[in-house]
Amino acid sequence: MPPAAPPPLAPTKPKPAHWNIDRAIRKNILALAPYRCARDDYDQGILLDANENALGHALPAQNGSAIDTSFDHLDLHRYPSPTHYDLKQRLRELRGLPSEHNLFLGVGSDEVIDLLFRIACVPAKDRALVCPPTYGMYSVCAQVNDVDIVKVNLDVEGGAFRPKVDEINRTLSAAAKSDNPIKLIYLCSPGNPTGTLIPLDDVRAILANPDYEGLVVVDEAYIDFADKSKSAVELLVNEGWSNLVIMQTLSKGFGLAAIRLGIAISSPELIQVLNNVKAPYNISTPTATLALRALSPEGLTTFRSNIATLISNRTYLAEQLAALPAILALPGAGDANFLLAQVGGEDGKPDNERAKRVYTHMAEQDQVVVRFRGNEVGCEACLRITVGTRQECERVVERLTELLK
Ligand SMILES: Cc1ncc(COP(=O)(O)O)c(C=O)c1O
Repeated sequence: MPPAAPPPLAPTKPKPAHWNIDRAIRKNILALAPYRCARDDYDQGILLDANENALGHALPAQNGSAIDTSFDHLDLHRYPSPTHYDLKQRLRELRGLPSEHNLFLGVGSDEVIDLLFRIACVPAKDRALVCPPTYGMYSVCAQVNDVDIVKVNLDVEGGAFRPKVDEINRTLSAAAKSDNPIKLIYLCSPGNPTGTLIPLDDVRAILANPDYEGLVVVDEAYIDFADKSKSAVELLVNEGWSNLVIMQTLSKGFGLAAIRLGIAISSPELIQVLNNVKAPYNISTPTATLALRALSPEGLTTFRSNIATLISNRTYLAEQLAALPAILALPGAGDANFLLAQVGGEDGKPDNERAKRVYTHMAEQDQVVVRFRGNEVGCEACLRITVGTRQECERVVERLTELLK
């Protein structure tokens, strides 16, 4: 059973010294009396407290006749655990976190992105900062929450895709003096679509901005494909930045996009705020059961072997693409499970129209679907190609070779 309440916060000096959760989080959210779940107080005995269906589910067996008993262990007629403490324990071990109270579970990282807007940004007043080219959901969620976005493009020179830290900090400081302060920053590392890790020193420099009172979010959806020593978890665990939130997911490295399990990692204080705001039973029992299995010792062995295979396929795909004369460059560092390939024209310059034609032709004629990213900042004429099985990589290279002759 989970402990009743998070452990008291370490009585250390807050870091950064100027930062205060009371100023980072909306007042109505801080004042929230969270919904209490049916099982918060008692969860043993004859359970007639949550208006569940005592007869159980009505799923037929595969042959369509009797009730399927293969799901009995899932207790499908009961509401799921509101905390999923056992799952958090495994994630804590995997990510080397001090406590389960450093972890929040969301319906994919996409739910976490939305919740962060809801806890941090007063609609039609506060703003959020993103660094294009980046993941599109930050802006979608901003719009849903009536939050304006400020853009400071990555430095795209030579495919570097690095945050312009000085410009970001100048923007944050100026906004802090305005009526529309920035309360949320999304940094994507490794980036989508850039495939590039953000140096931890860049993140530190933003976390330390003395004028900035909001949250710095590092989206590490693709961290399992990168050098994990570059994860921002280090900044939380070893350096204690209270204004930092890291997002991870089981959708990519663990190959479990369908179960929708995303993770936020932060201080217990901030995690408690996310828990207060979430829907009471956001993570389903089937999701939690599958995630627990994926995080078992056997599951982790397969996970690590799959990551190694995909990284080897990434190297293969990069080599094959680089050898094609019409692929001008592979911008980005290739730290994720995809590559950016820049398509050139007859004149040897990036050719957006050609890239788009190749993309459409492959999708419609060859049933090979990649993503055209040529309209993103610094991604002119780029296709984003997910690293698939070796056979899938061979097929995409074969099609590109033919179409770019
Ligand atoms: C950078 C980034 N963050 C978050 C997500 C969403 O992840 P999830 O499946 O956990 O919602 C994606 C999905 O493609 C992504 O590219």
